[in-house]
Amino acid sequence: MKKFIVVYYSRTGNNEYLAKKIASQLDCDIEKIMPRVNSFIFFLLNISLGIKKIKHDVAGYENIILCGPIMMGRFLSPLHDFYKKYKKSIKKLYFVTCCGSGFKVKDDKFGHATVFKYIKGLMGEKLAHCEALPVGLTLPAEKQDDGDAIMKARLSDENFKDEIEQHFNQFIEQLKRETKKRNKK
Ligand SMILES: Cc1cc2nc3c(=O)[nH]c(=O)nc-3n(C[C@H](O)[C@H](O)[C@H](O)COP(=O)(O)O)c2cc1C
Repeated sequence: MKKFIVVYYSRTGNNEYLAKKIASQLDCDIEKIMPRVNSFIFFLLNISLGIKKIKHDVAGYENIILCGPIMMGRFLSPLHDFYKKYKKSIKKLYFVTCCGSGFKVKDDKFGHATVFKYIKGLMGEKLAHCEALPVGLTLPAEKQDDGDAIMKARLSDENFKDEIEQHFNQFIEQLKRETKKRNKK
């Protein structure tokens, strides 16, 4: 059985960048979630039309790294649909998001920790961990609370450094440590 696969959805590229970076660090398979109908309006309204079949065999991986954005304080429907469709095949799942909400507002209505609580309730024991890499960490300190600047921020090799890179590296280390420990049991 293979150890990891990264499965992701991304609209404007941030989570695609992150997903590829994780897959490259873990040297593992990666696949993009393809919604049956790629309507952003539907996603924002939480209308779900399902996703296309994942080409990799989800049951053949010990850990799924699910990567995608948080929008309108929700676990976006392509991500939700992936979980619903493959629940029985998923052993452990890590959710990681490059989101807009920073650590100071994580518990607000649209904050990532609020969405993480929902995900925990949905997945229970299958959920190993949720990780947020707020895109605002790539901005200068004075812009990190600026909503417009956050919405426009895009991850790139030029700005994926310092604080965001440190969080990323810690997350990768945690993944490696936890999965190694679980295998020893
Ligand atoms: C319409 C819209 C709503 C959003 N709502 C939230 C939100 O509720 N919470 C949050 O943390 N970020 C929110 N964001 C920010 C996105 O999560 C962020 O821009 C993310 O990096 C986009 O990922 P992508 O480039 O992979 O699509 C929102 C962005 C858009 C465009």
